[in-house]
Amino acid sequence: MLESELNQLKEETLKEVSQIGTIDSLRQFEHKYLSRSGLIRQFIQNLSTVEPSERPKIGRLINQIKTVISEAYEEQLKTLRRTLPAQEEQTFFDTTMPGKKPARGHYHPVYQVFFQICDIFKRLGFDIAYGPEIETPYYNFEALNVPSDHPSRDAFDTFYLADTNHSQLLRSHTSPVQIRTMQRLKPPLRIIAPGKVFRPDTASASRFPMFHQVEGLMVDTNVSFSHLKGVLDIFCKEMFGKETKTRFRPSFFPFTEPSAEVDISCVICHGQGRLNSGDTCSVCRGDGWLEILGSGMVHPEVFRYVKYNHEKYTGFAFGMGVERISMLKYGINDIRLFTENHLMFLEQF
Ligand code: DAH
Repeated sequence: MLESELNQLKEETLKEVSQIGTIDSLRQFEHKYLSRSGLIRQFIQNLSTVEPSERPKIGRLINQIKTVISEAYEEQLKTLRRTLPAQEEQTFFDTTMPGKKPARGHYHPVYQVFFQICDIFKRLGFDIAYGPEIETPYYNFEALNVPSDHPSRDAFDTFYLADTNHSQLLRSHTSPVQIRTMQRLKPPLRIIAPGKVFRPDTASASRFPMFHQVEGLMVDTNVSFSHLKGVLDIFCKEMFGKETKTRFRPSFFPFTEPSAEVDISCVICHGQGRLNSGDTCSVCRGDGWLEILGSGMVHPEVFRYVKYNHEKYTGFAFGMGVERISMLKYGINDIRLFTENHLMFLEQF
């Protein structure tokens, strides 16, 4: 008796819900059958009046019916939401509600550091110059005093474009922009050249086949190594903090003579090599110094290639890796993080 009554209720409500055409009446339907004061709830409350032996069966049936009706209700709600114009549901529009904020991005950490580097040099009177990412061996090597049989060329002599008969390659450093700029301008000049560079390195925590460099070049009468030291010392202090010390270590680059590698006092242990805990500093590995760039006085041979009078002019040049500087500045331990597009990583900057 109760069973057939319940089954009838099921049939009727399913039919009813499928015919409802407005969200308002659907809400009324929900109130009538499914809410706390609804009909189904009443059936559950009345279970106590059912013959005890029948109770489990009837109880199960009521639950089943409740599920079926709830599902049909949800389904109908979805259908109506899809088909009805939005204003039917939102008759009230609160004009005082704040608007939805669009998600706002920001520059990639490498580019933030790029801009910081450029800003510092701009304040020192350097202009910004650009060169192509696809270079010719002449600009990437020869004019920088790296002849085709030079051993230092092996490590970068790569990434030639297909079908160009080794006449075009992805640049392995930003130094070719020195040549292009000197061909274009007469001294005195002061430029920096930011950009992408490419090398045949397997990706690891410290190497990546594509990264960014900033090249620098200053040419004038009487430019000396002291100017180089002064400019780079200011740069390092601006970039890493006033307390930063710099160290110039003799080195070799074919396009500079003399050449120097520049180190800064370790940003983590402040040159101590040890942490306060007594542990060896893991960033500088106990050395107290971190290498950050290559530099030197422009080689007379390079001036010869661009037809500058090397008796009259001298100059200095330098080149630094932007990822490396970002990693040191922000304590990032894996260069691959820059290209993996993890928002959790990027949103920290
Ligand atoms: N081009 C060098 C490199 O990629 C960096 C460099 C060293 C640039 C010395 C310079 C320089 O201008 O003077 O490793």
